[in-house]
Amino acid sequence: MNFELTEEQKLIQQAARDLAEREALLDVIERDEKAEYPYKHVQRMKELGFFGMTVDPKYDGGGMDSLSYVLVLEELSKHDSSLAVILSVHNSLACWGLENFGNEYQKEKYLKPMARGEVIGAFLLSEPEAGSDATHQKTLAEDMGDHYLVNGIKNWITSASTAGYYILIAQTKPELKHKGINAFIVEKDTPGITIGPHENKMGMRSSDTHSVMFTNVKVPKENRIGEEGFGFKFAMKCLEVGRIGIAAQALGIAEGAYMRALKYAKERKAFGTEIANHQAIAFKLADMAVKIETAKLLVYKAATLKDLHQPFGLIGAMAKRYCADIAMEVTTDAVQIHGGYGYVKEYHVERLFREAKLTQIYEGTSEIQRIVISRSILNE
Ligand code: CAA
Repeated sequence: MNFELTEEQKLIQQAARDLAEREALLDVIERDEKAEYPYKHVQRMKELGFFGMTVDPKYDGGGMDSLSYVLVLEELSKHDSSLAVILSVHNSLACWGLENFGNEYQKEKYLKPMARGEVIGAFLLSEPEAGSDATHQKTLAEDMGDHYLVNGIKNWITSASTAGYYILIAQTKPELKHKGINAFIVEKDTPGITIGPHENKMGMRSSDTHSVMFTNVKVPKENRIGEEGFGFKFAMKCLEVGRIGIAAQALGIAEGAYMRALKYAKERKAFGTEIANHQAIAFKLADMAVKIETAKLLVYKAATLKDLHQPFGLIGAMAKRYCADIAMEVTTDAVQIHGGYGYVKEYHVERLFREAKLTQIYEGTSEIQRIVISRSILNE
């Protein structure tokens, strides 16, 4: 097993580290407080080629491997995971889904602008009553012959107001349950689409999250992705890839909290010595480091399996479950090590703690990952 990154991977990792440390970190507290979208940093990520970075150059993408992509998400999340979620939904769900299951017309028209970073993509699966239970789609896409007519509401949509293209999952034949679900590409400016108010989230407050309402929205027939009824499998396939990205994000959050706790513990004095010299703190740091190293192995393995075109769904779900859960544990410990300072904004760990929580919830809760993992190992 080769644990050494290539020169190209190191370069891309360094580029993401520089952006996070030298640019995003400077205004992250203010953006978090005001729930402001990171326009400036999104522009930088476009310039660096992070949008569409894994898409084949044939479709104007960067042609990079999944491990490079994971390194970028990890680095960004050490300081600002809002940037990572914008990137993750665009790349793992919208671009990957279209590249792998779209036809040539769709790739030419929609994938290429997304791969060039000109248009941001969003993924519309969750609904007010269908989050974990994704088969119960209430949004209807009625087949009207030459087009589909869409009515319904989607919830918790990352980049809902800043994206140009939506990958929409909706029900066409309710009597067929999940086999009646379709996936579509919908242009955001299509008449009948209304974007709800910005969600006032606990964490990752700098990414834009809204509900999206569809009222008699006409979607051309040629915008359906794959065969009729392929929508649910399409969504599950995209989420398999998406989980690796969220795992990397959770890993980065944990690392961001750990490195701050380590620094603080070496500087802060109590009972006549730096608090790192007290076993109560030193053992906590040791456990945090072990969890991070273990999490890293899982995420990198999932990305490597994907690059090797080997099945990665099980390891990806394990990575998502483990990284999200340890991100919550590590950030909790980081706040504890900081004491009162951990509870105020300047030290960043309370924000990372809030951000960690979301990784246990979106793109499949930790409980959903356990369903995926247990079904997979029981069916082996
Ligand atoms: N790949 C291909 N097909 C798959 C699949 C996969 N990974 N997983 C399931 N399927 C197929 C099954 O084979 C089955 O097909 P058949 O009927 O032909 O046999 C079909 O899909 C239904 O599968 P299940 O019976 O396993 O379905 P289920 O109802 O038990 O659900 C689940 C499975 C894993 C719980 C799934 O519903 C799930 O992943 N839920 C979580 C959804 C989620 O992550 N939602 C939020 C993400 S979006 C988001 O967060 C947006 C954002 O902006 C960040």
